[in-house]
Amino acid sequence: MTDKIKIAIVGMGNVASTLLKGLEFYKNSTEGLWHPKLGGLSLNDITIVAVYDIDSSKVGEKIRQNIPDYKTDFSDLLIQPGILEDIVSPHISQNGQIKSVSYDEFVNSLKKIKPEFLINLISSGMEKSSEKYANAALEAGCSFFNATSAKTVTEQARKEFHSKGLMMLGDDLMSQFGGTAFHRGMIEFMTIRGIKIQKAYQLDVGGNQDTKNTMVEEIRERKRQIKTESIAIEAPQPFMSTAGTTEYAEQLGDSRVSYYWMEAKGFLNSIVEMDLSLRTNDSSNGCNVILDSIRAAKRALSKNDLAKADIISSYAFKNPPKKMHIRECIKAFEDAFLN
Ligand SMILES: NC(=O)c1ccc[n+]([C@@H]2O[C@H](COP(=O)([O-])OP(=O)(O)OC[C@H]3O[C@@H](n4cnc5c(N)ncnc54)[C@H](O)[C@@H]3O)[C@@H](O)[C@H]2O)c1
Repeated sequence: MTDKIKIAIVGMGNVASTLLKGLEFYKNSTEGLWHPKLGGLSLNDITIVAVYDIDSSKVGEKIRQNIPDYKTDFSDLLIQPGILEDIVSPHISQNGQIKSVSYDEFVNSLKKIKPEFLINLISSGMEKSSEKYANAALEAGCSFFNATSAKTVTEQARKEFHSKGLMMLGDDLMSQFGGTAFHRGMIEFMTIRGIKIQKAYQLDVGGNQDTKNTMVEEIRERKRQIKTESIAIEAPQPFMSTAGTTEYAEQLGDSRVSYYWMEAKGFLNSIVEMDLSLRTNDSSNGCNVILDSIRAAKRALSKNDLAKADIISSYAFKNPPKKMHIRECIKAFEDAFLN
C-alpha cells in the first residue's frame, strides 16, 4: 500500500465538515463520487493530518465537537489556531472571539506535521490571510489549494512553488454542479448548437455562513466579477451578463438556489428564452472537485509533472491562470488522470 496523501485544512467550516464526512462515508461506497479512482488513487488514499481555524469556539476543540452527528477517523484531531491578517466582522466567529497564532508559529506547526497539501477553506473576504497561508505553505514545503475567491495564484507565486517542486492550485473553487458550472454548460450548449446568447443573468440566494459573509458589498462585487468572467469564456462573442450572490436567506441552510434567465437568437433572429432555477447543497457540491484535484495533483507531483497544475486549476476553479472551456478542461483532466 502506498503512503496516504497527507492534508492539512485551514477553515473548519461547512465545506471542511462535509469533506471529512465524505472521507468516512466513502470507505465503503462509491455512490455519488464523480471519479471513484483518479491517478490510481481512491479516497481511502487521503488522510487529514491537521485542521486550523480562528474561531475561539472551535480552536482547542476536537473535530467531534464540530461534527457531533458523524464519527470519523479524524474525530479526535484537535482544531489548532490559524493565522489572521484581516479585519473580521463579528459574525465570522460564533462567540465573537478570535484565537490565532503568529505566522512563524503557524509555519512551524506545518513543518512539524509535514502535510503534502494545505487546503484553504477559510471565510470569504480573507484576502490577506489567504495570501499568508499560501506563503506559509511555500515556506513549509507543501502544495497549496485555494478554494476561496482571494487572489493567491500569481505568476510569481506559481514560479516559487514550482521551483520547490510544489503545486499551487486556485483560485475560487468551481463546484461540481453549482451555479457557475451549470451556467457555463448551458451557454456552451447553445453555442455549439449555433444559438447566439445575447443577455443573461444568474441570481444566487443561499442560507449558509459563507453566503452571509458574501453580503459585504466589497466581497460580493469581487465574487460577482469572478463568476461573470468565468461564464463569459463559453461564448465566442461578448454578451450582457450578470452573475453573483444576491441574497442571504437563512431558511435555505447549506443550500443555494440559482435563478437563471437567458435570451439568445436563432434563425431569422428568432428569440430563444430560458427562465429556470437550480437548487443544490453548497458544501457537498464542492467536495468531489476538491478530492479529485488533490489526487490528480498527487499523481502529477509524483511524476514531477508540474505543468499539469494548469489543467487541474482549469477543472477545479472559477479563476484559474489558464482559461479553458468547461468541456475542454474536463476532457483534458480526465485524459490526464483517469486511468
Ligand atoms: N461549494 C462551496 O461550498 C464553495 C464553492 C466555492 C468556494 N467556496 C469557498 O470555500 C470557503 C469555505 O466555505 P465554507 O462554506 O466552508 O465557509 P464557512 O463560513 O462555513 O467556514 C469558514 C471557516 O473558516 C474559518 N476562518 C475564517 N478566517 C480564518 C483564518 N484566517 N484562519 C483559519 N480559519 C478561518 C471560520 O471560522 C470558519 O470556521 C469559502 O471561502 C467559500 O467561498 C465554497
